[in-house]
Amino acid sequence: MTALLELENVRAGYGPTSVLHGVSLEVPDGSVVSLLGANGAGKTTTLRAITGGVRWTGDIRFAGRSLRRSPTEDIVRRGIAHVPEGRGICTELTVDENLRLGAHLRQDKAEVKKDYARVFEYFPVLKERRRLSASTLSGGEQQMLALARALLMRPRLMLLDEPSLGLAPMVVRSIFEIIRSINRTSKVAVLLVEQNARIALDLSTTTYVLEVGRVAVHGASAELQGDESVRRSYLGY
Ligand SMILES: Nc1ncnc2c1ncn2[C@@H]1O[C@H](COP(=O)(O)OP(=O)(O)OP(=O)(O)O)[C@@H](O)[C@H]1O
Ligand SMILES: [Mg+2]
Repeated sequence: MTALLELENVRAGYGPTSVLHGVSLEVPDGSVVSLLGANGAGKTTTLRAITGGVRWTGDIRFAGRSLRRSPTEDIVRRGIAHVPEGRGICTELTVDENLRLGAHLRQDKAEVKKDYARVFEYFPVLKERRRLSASTLSGGEQQMLALARALLMRPRLMLLDEPSLGLAPMVVRSIFEIIRSINRTSKVAVLLVEQNARIALDLSTTTYVLEVGRVAVHGASAELQGDESVRRSYLGY
């Protein structure tokens, strides 16, 4: 069986600077896969390659079809939602306006309505604050808004770039619980980029560790968690 997302020998960079030196990884349908690594390892660049934000060579296939030369809008339509580093929400807009951006490419209005109801079940606080400016939300609530907006694209795969960044441990726990339940209930696969190795290993089935643009180790998250030398060398705990 082929995976939902497959990267094969992907090389990418910025102008003359190469950052990814042949990354291969797979995200099976419905699974959670984490992508770990130190600052500057190329995690964000990997997600940007998938969504067409940087030029790449090699191959990236989604649901069996190559994403080569696909514009970002097509990639979104095909079912990939990217929650970027720093969340990417518009603080000049209201919560509602941000959510509408998530659904704006969809024609299935009746289904969109159902998805709103579901999103508000996951994030009741967003329902309460619908009409307020997104700038009034706390960091954790802004992360929730970014996840909610991605869910309204009804994706098959969500790319999450450091959802825990800058959040207090309790808030991080609740965000990860929601990610877990989105994965299970809405059957959305997740490629999770994290600095917080413990929590990512805990949530995911498979983990890849990037080191300067290459996959240094990969395997079942439970095994990597139990391997002291891997933990010390690559995961920093
Ligand atoms: N827009 C850009 N232009 C030029 N170089 C960039 C750009 N974005 C990232 N880089 C460089 O690419 C390398 C990989 O960066 P990337 O953001 O992918 O790392 P990361 O693993 O996401 O790191 P972090 O954990 O700090 O977010 C770094 O050396 C970085 O300086
Ligand atoms: Mg990054």
